[in-house]
Amino acid sequence: MNELDSLVESAAQLFAQANTPAELENAKAQFLGKAGRVTELMKGMAQLSVEEKKSRGAAINVAKQAIEAELTARRQALADAELQAQLKAEALDVSLPGRQRGQGGLHPVSLTLERIERIFGSMGFDVAEGPEIETDWFNFTALNTPEDHPARSMHDTFYVEGGTATAPNLLRTHTSPMQIRHAVQHVKKHRATLDAGQAMPEIRVIAPGRTYRVDSDATHSPMFHQCEGLWIGENVSFKDLKVIFTDFCRTFFESDDLVLRFRPSFFPFTEPSAEIDIQFQTGPLAGRWLEVAGSGQVHPNVVRNMGLDPEKYIGFAFGMGPDRLTMLRYGVNDLRLFFDGDIRFLSQFQ
Ligand code: DAH
Repeated sequence: MNELDSLVESAAQLFAQANTPAELENAKAQFLGKAGRVTELMKGMAQLSVEEKKSRGAAINVAKQAIEAELTARRQALADAELQAQLKAEALDVSLPGRQRGQGGLHPVSLTLERIERIFGSMGFDVAEGPEIETDWFNFTALNTPEDHPARSMHDTFYVEGGTATAPNLLRTHTSPMQIRHAVQHVKKHRATLDAGQAMPEIRVIAPGRTYRVDSDATHSPMFHQCEGLWIGENVSFKDLKVIFTDFCRTFFESDDLVLRFRPSFFPFTEPSAEIDIQFQTGPLAGRWLEVAGSGQVHPNVVRNMGLDPEKYIGFAFGMGPDRLTMLRYGVNDLRLFFDGDIRFLSQFQ
């Protein structure tokens, strides 16, 4: 092998060893750069005769072109390799299962509230919502609750700073203030009818929502839910309450062999008052009386605070605990589970 052939071969070898474009450019400089070996050979022709320069120059050029060809080939090979590596790194594995969006769901108590709204809605009840921060008037006074009633004590109620008798000053302890709020709106809406001495459309409403008390154990949470019910008209009786509530319970629990008991009780805003107990005849809870609501005929003082004449308007109210209804429906034995936010518990209701 002559000197030029071996030069081409050593260039090819060096190019082959270059694994990056930068290494390849360095290798190139050793042969084709200003101080490269091909350039040196060219310079070495200075002393040669014209004839010799011609043939030597031609031979060097052939070698130079061969080196350039090797260089181009290697450049292309490196570029191809880089492209392959990039394609591989960015490859999509279309056989991988897609990343799924976590599917949320409704909280069990929300499911119960929806259920209550649907059932009472089908019986012609509106749904009303009201503020969780209430005034003393709506939460107590308007509901015929005397100044010295124990529910007003600091130990039972969360008071808010800065309140006055008319400004919001406490977290509502029940949804009963909605009886007054809703009735007052209703009366206002039908003022003209009332003033004309005509019959006002009946008030038929439920008011679900959050309520608060200083209370915390397995069956009491400082924040809990209630759902108020109110039906006021010229001829609404306790019998209607019994029919409505029995219907509600049987639909809610999807059970016809469920019996109700109205147990005499006391609430300042109703007279007479009753606790409503239910009893399943079959299933795991069979035979036990379970308290689900307070109720009663709306007290004349409360009817008056609604802006209505208690001699003419009469009706009933009830207040139930959706948390408890949810526990009974799903067989949950600790109320706190509802408010811990444990996804393992909550996902069981989806
Ligand atoms: N507000 C009562 C409570 O929280 C429940 C209640 C009892 C509501 C009787 C009523 C009612 O509407 O008539 O204990």
